[in-house]
Amino acid sequence: MSSVLTVPVGLGSRAYDVLVGDGALDAAADRLPGFFPRQRAILVTDSHIAPLHLERVITLLAGAGLACDPIVMEPGERAKSFAGLEQLVDALLERNIERSEAVIALGGGVIGDLTGFAAAVTKRGVDFIQIPTTLLAQVDSSVGGKTGINTRQGKNFAGAFHQPRLVIADTALLATLPERERRAGYAEIVKAALIGDEPMFERLDAAGAGVLQGAPLARAIADAVAFKARIVAEDELEHGNRALLNLGHTFAHAFEAEAPKDAIRHGEAVAAGIALAFRYSVARGECPASDADRVEAHLRSVGLPWNAASLAHKDWDAARLVARMRDDKKNQAGEITLILARGIGKAWIDPRIDTTHLVAFLETSLS
Ligand code: GLY
Repeated sequence: MSSVLTVPVGLGSRAYDVLVGDGALDAAADRLPGFFPRQRAILVTDSHIAPLHLERVITLLAGAGLACDPIVMEPGERAKSFAGLEQLVDALLERNIERSEAVIALGGGVIGDLTGFAAAVTKRGVDFIQIPTTLLAQVDSSVGGKTGINTRQGKNFAGAFHQPRLVIADTALLATLPERERRAGYAEIVKAALIGDEPMFERLDAAGAGVLQGAPLARAIADAVAFKARIVAEDELEHGNRALLNLGHTFAHAFEAEAPKDAIRHGEAVAAGIALAFRYSVARGECPASDADRVEAHLRSVGLPWNAASLAHKDWDAARLVARMRDDKKNQAGEITLILARGIGKAWIDPRIDTTHLVAFLETSLS
């Protein structure tokens, strides 16, 4: 029996499937020719991913009767820039890409976001397929159609909603992923449960660190993707509940902006941010302390940060963090929006945070 799970993202005429599990690439083989009428598949990856996974994908494409035409970008966040976008759009146009053809993004969040944005704007839009190679990308960034690049002003400040046509989340590709990246990606899985699926949190908590490997991991990815798919299907353009998916992220972006480059992983910052969102909810008298205790204990049990002090960088200043939080894209009318929780699985959106109270809370929790 195939262990590959199919999670549909219900967006009407733009609906697509996310194939999750060990063997998802093979399970996708029959679907691929339909996306490539010229029997060639333009594929975007980076020079870190290419030696690890490109051969595998070239073989898969060849088996489906498709020639692979790879574009290899420089690795790292620098490619997610106006310069990287220009380079990629030029490369697509040099290959005379037609609107009937799709582009494959093979890599982590940077390659997925950049390729998706290039696909959204090249010839006013070509299709793209995501083959995410990190846990973070499999569980979050490859699904939902947020694409973009960073600008001088901030991360993902230029972009477009452009849904992929297919997402192939083959967990076999995670074998080469360093343990730290695997744990960091897990933060986005537990985030889904904490937003709105208490039974899922119970399952994750019962599995403990065992959830980071094998079939339990594939199941957890599929659960998190199914949760995200439901929210995206209801609110694709983030006018409402899609913002819930940012639980922990406003704190996280502030940590990431304040820490030295590469000191902390995005998922680590998200984990600490989730714990803080629960603690802040308790401080406001809106969440049982026992739920915040459980969240912290769970994050700790899987080796993730469970507060600001357990992040790899420790030199935080409450007022500076809150100043960073003011730059968040979710904010409205100059007020900070935070995703808070009334308990496990009961997240909600508060668009008017009292910044004086927030600074005081952070000062206490950082001391
Ligand atoms: N990563 C949050 C979202 O896709 O909305």
